[in-house]
Amino acid sequence: MLVLGIETSCDDTAAAVVRDARQVLSSVVSSQSIHKLYGGVVPEIASRQHIRLIVPTVRTALAEACVELDDIDAIAATKGPGLIGSLLVGLCFAKAVSFATGKPFIGVNHIEAHLFAPLVETDELKPPFVGLCVSGGHTELMYVRGFGDYELLGSTVDDAAGEAIDKVAKMLGLGFPGGPEIEALSSRGDPNRIAFPKARLKRKGFDMSFSGLKTAVKYFIEHQASLDENLKADVAASFEKVVVEALVEKLVEACRAKKATQAVVAGGVARSRALREASQKACATLGVQLVIPSRELCSDNGVMVAVAGTLRLLRGEKSSLRLTAASTLEELLEIERS
Ligand code: KG4
Ligand code: ZN
Repeated sequence: MLVLGIETSCDDTAAAVVRDARQVLSSVVSSQSIHKLYGGVVPEIASRQHIRLIVPTVRTALAEACVELDDIDAIAATKGPGLIGSLLVGLCFAKAVSFATGKPFIGVNHIEAHLFAPLVETDELKPPFVGLCVSGGHTELMYVRGFGDYELLGSTVDDAAGEAIDKVAKMLGLGFPGGPEIEALSSRGDPNRIAFPKARLKRKGFDMSFSGLKTAVKYFIEHQASLDENLKADVAASFEKVVVEALVEKLVEACRAKKATQAVVAGGVARSRALREASQKACATLGVQLVIPSRELCSDNGVMVAVAGTLRLLRGEKSSLRLTAASTLEELLEIERS
C-alpha cells in the first residue's frame, strides 16, 4: 500500500511517500526559516507559509518517489495536536486531494505518528511499550498497549520540554530552533556549574513541569553582571542536564510501573545527543530495550504520518471528509471517542 503522508502541525511543511509502512520512497521537509527572525514560531505566519509550500512540497515528494498521484493508494495528514491554522492547511489539502481523486483519506494523531515512525527503520518495534514523545509542542508519556490502544500516563503541566529549550536559547541570545544551539553550546560547558532546580510536582504520577526551570534560568541570567561565552556554555550545559534528567527519570519510573520491556523516545527533542545517551544508559540498566528513531526521523516529517496512516488504513479505518483539526491531545481524544 502506497501512502502519501502530509505533516503541517507546526512550522515544517512535510510530505512523504511510504510503501506498506516500511519503505520510504521519498521524504521532503520544507522548514520555514522565516520564524528565526522572531525567535519562535508565529502561528499566523506558519499557516501562510504552509499555504505557499504545500503544493511544491507534495509535488517534490511524488517526483522523488517516482510516482504519480494516480499510483497513491491513500492520503494521510496530521489532524492534531498542533497549531490549528497550520493543521488545517495540511488537512484541508489532503481532503481536497482525496475528494478530487476518490482515494481514501485518513487523519493522523501526531503523537502516534512520532511513536510509530521507527517502523521504517527497525523490525524491533513491538508494543506494549512506554513511549515518551518530547518536542516543541508536546511532552507526553504514554503506555502503548498496541497500535491505537494508549494510556496517557503523564504530560507536562506547563511548557513542553522543547518549548523551554527554545525559550532558554532565546534568553542566551541563541537562534531558533533552540535545541541544536543549546546542544552545540553545552558541549563546551560544565553541566555541574549551576544547580538549576528540577520540578517536584506535589501530586504523584508521571506529569512533568519545565516552566519553573525556565524561570530559574531567566533569574540566574538577570542576576549576572555580565554573561561571557564560558558562563553561557555552563548555563546551557547545566540547563540541558536538568531537562534530560527530568525526562529520563519519568521514563524510568513509567517503565518500572508498567514492567515494560521496551521504550520509545521520539519527537524533535529526541534529536538531543544528551537525551539519547542518558535514556540509552537508563534503559540498559533497567533491562529495557530502547528504540529511538534516527535524528532525521525525530523531527516532524511526512514519513511518520504516512506510517501511522497506513496502520490505521490496514485496520479498515478511514476518515470522513468532515474531519476537523484539534489543537490539543485531549480535544483530539474527545473527537476520536465521539
Ligand atoms: O517534533 P518537532 O520537530 O516539532 C514539534 O512537534 O514541536 O520538535 C521541535 C523541537 C524544538 O523545540 C527544537 O528546539 C527541539 O525539538 N530540538 C532539539 C534538538 N533539535 C531539535 N532539542 C534538543 N536537542 C536537539 N538537538
Ligand atoms: Zn512533532
